[in-house]
Amino acid sequence: MSLKEVLIDELRDMYSAENQLVKALPKLAKGTNDATLAQLFKDHLEETKGQVIRLRGVFETLGEKPTGQHCSGMEGVIEEGKDALEKGTDNASFDAGIIGAALRTEHYEIAGYQACLAMAKSLNLKDVIGPLTQNLNEELTAADKVTAASINILKQASAEPEQDTEPKTAKEKYSEKKSKEDESKAAVDIKKRR
Ligand SMILES: [Fe+2]
Repeated sequence: MSLKEVLIDELRDMYSAENQLVKALPKLAKGTNDATLAQLFKDHLEETKGQVIRLRGVFETLGEKPTGQHCSGMEGVIEEGKDALEKGTDNASFDAGIIGAALRTEHYEIAGYQACLAMAKSLNLKDVIGPLTQNLNEELTAADKVTAASINILKQASAEPEQDTEPKTAKEKYSEKKSKEDESKAAVDIKKRR
């Protein structure tokens, strides 16, 4: 396998990730109670559509097709966001959960573009460095904006009273069971470290 092939695989992953976000961002915008956050998600949706188009240009430059790889990582991150959205309460604490989910998507993309850029630079693919850097910079700015918006939301959330915990859904119970499995599978290795 060549570095160029790895890069193309990674880029196809990013293309899938961006397309998945085009469908997920409106749900985040609709779900949040915070007007600033909702606007940020709407603005980033428009940016994301531009990123998809920019990536198509990158593939055209490389003489490759953009599809061929589904990004399971972004699917998982979006799934986590869905879990946060399902809680659906009208308070700032709920929005704090949405922020966590949104930042995960942004940082997933940041890592992806950084990896792609490092490979493109190593291969001296000058024509793709520009558009990939543009996409990376938009993700970095979006994450910064969400972080800035979080200051006010977290301040409000920290003043909210604690609430009685709702009974666990079947999905939450399954998640709890899996988390215990994660713990016990790792436990042997962690014990060895002591
Ligand atoms: Fe993006």
